[in-house]
Parts: sequence; C-alpha cells; structure tokens
Amino acid sequence: MSAERKVLDHFHADARRFDAIYGEQKGAFTRFVDHVWRGVVRRRLDLALEKLEPLAGKSVLDVGCGSGRYCVAYALRGAARVVGVDFAPAMIGIANEIAGKAGVADRCQFRVGAFPEAVPEGGFDAATAMGFFDYVADPVRMVAAMRERARSTLVMSFPKAVEWRVPIRRLRFLALGCPLFLYTEGRARGVLTAAGVTDYEWIPLDRDYIVVARL
Ligand SMILES: C[S@@+](CC[C@H](N)C(=O)[O-])C[C@H]1O[C@@H](n2cnc3c(N)ncnc32)[C@H](O)[C@@H]1O
Repeated sequence: MSAERKVLDHFHADARRFDAIYGEQKGAFTRFVDHVWRGVVRRRLDLALEKLEPLAGKSVLDVGCGSGRYCVAYALRGAARVVGVDFAPAMIGIANEIAGKAGVADRCQFRVGAFPEAVPEGGFDAATAMGFFDYVADPVRMVAAMRERARSTLVMSFPKAVEWRVPIRRLRFLALGCPLFLYTEGRARGVLTAAGVTDYEWIPLDRDYIVVARL
C-alpha cells in the first residue's frame, strides 16, 4: 500500500476523533491530554488567522483542510471564497457539516481529492497547509504547487524532528501504520528554498515550525 493511501485511510477512520480536538465538550482528563499533546492544533489556527488578517474579501486555499475548521474560520472573518481540499472523505463530510452549521456553506467549497491534482486552478490570495507536511513524502512538490496557486501569502506548519514529544509520537504513528515525516530546521528551510520560497517569517510554535511566506 502506498504512503498516501495509508495516510488517507488513517484520517478517514480518525476524522471524528481528530475534529474533537477543536470541541469544547470534553472531560478534564481529555482536556489535559489534548492541551499537552495536541494543543498546537488550536494554537496554530489562532496564529494563522492573525497572520492572514485582513481576510475580508479574500480568496483562500486550505490544503489538507481536514474537518474544515480553518476554512470556516476564514469565511467567518469575511473571506469571499474558500476552497478546502482533503483526500479523506470523512474529513470533508465533517467540513461540510460545520460550514453549514456556521452559515458559511455558500463561501466554502470542499473537494475530496489529492493535492495538487484536485486543485488545478490558481489565483488565490493565500494558501495554507497546517498539520499537513507531517504526512507528505514530497514536500517540495507541495510547497511549489501552493506557491503557483497563491498570489500573496502562504502559511504552513512543519513538525519538529527534535522535540520532547517526538519519540512517543513516532511510536504512536508506527503502531497506527500511518507514515509520519518530521523536520529539522535545516531540512524545512531547504524545502522552502528548493520550492522557490525565499521571503518568509520563521516562528517556532510548540512542536511545530510555522512559516509565513510573502510572495
Ligand atoms: C492532521 S490533518 C490536519 C487538518 C487541518 N489542516 C487542521 O489542522 O485542522 C492532515 C490532513 O491532511 C490530509 N492530507 C494529507 N496528504 C494529503 C494530500 N496529498 N492531499 C489531500 N489531503 C491530504 C489528511 O487526509 C488529513 O485530513
């Protein structure tokens, strides 16, 4: 089975549990575990929103959009058009539900498919990929494709290879049979250079490096 297929199967099966990280209704123990292990998932959303302001009237592509939390947040802040792409159908099912409940379904389009093939068109103001490069075997191709499709800003996260949670995270994904790709600072910067991204802000955040590139 290909690495892509393993990632797709994992996130298709894990979609509800993954999206629950964003939920408020959970017990004290789950809240504590989520805060320590997966707190970055929420913190990087706040950072992306801050770095993309002003969003009013903009078009945004979200790569590996998962359950659509970023797309809905962009639309709620006034983005005129948001496209989210993810190859896990269960993730896109939740994304459509959440966009409908938030009343922004008319400005959010979700596509089930692999990036970049599922988004052949360009012309977006910004493109984001958060929690995506953790699962991608060919990051240079993906960053280059995002760059081709966006006019002004890219926001991306790269998971750190050296961090106290890494050994347990590696073991967990090994047990799950899902590939996991981690980055030293040098490797992530090398990916950006190889993809032609040179002007960027570098922000270490928890277990990730966040990159905000101006095109
Ligand atoms: C950890 S989730 C992050 C979801 C979302 N960005 C967030 O932070 O809430 C990573 C997502 O990337 C998707 N993904 C990974 N590689 C992909 C590819 N080549 N094309 C489309 N989706 C992909 C997975 O299916 C998964 O839903």
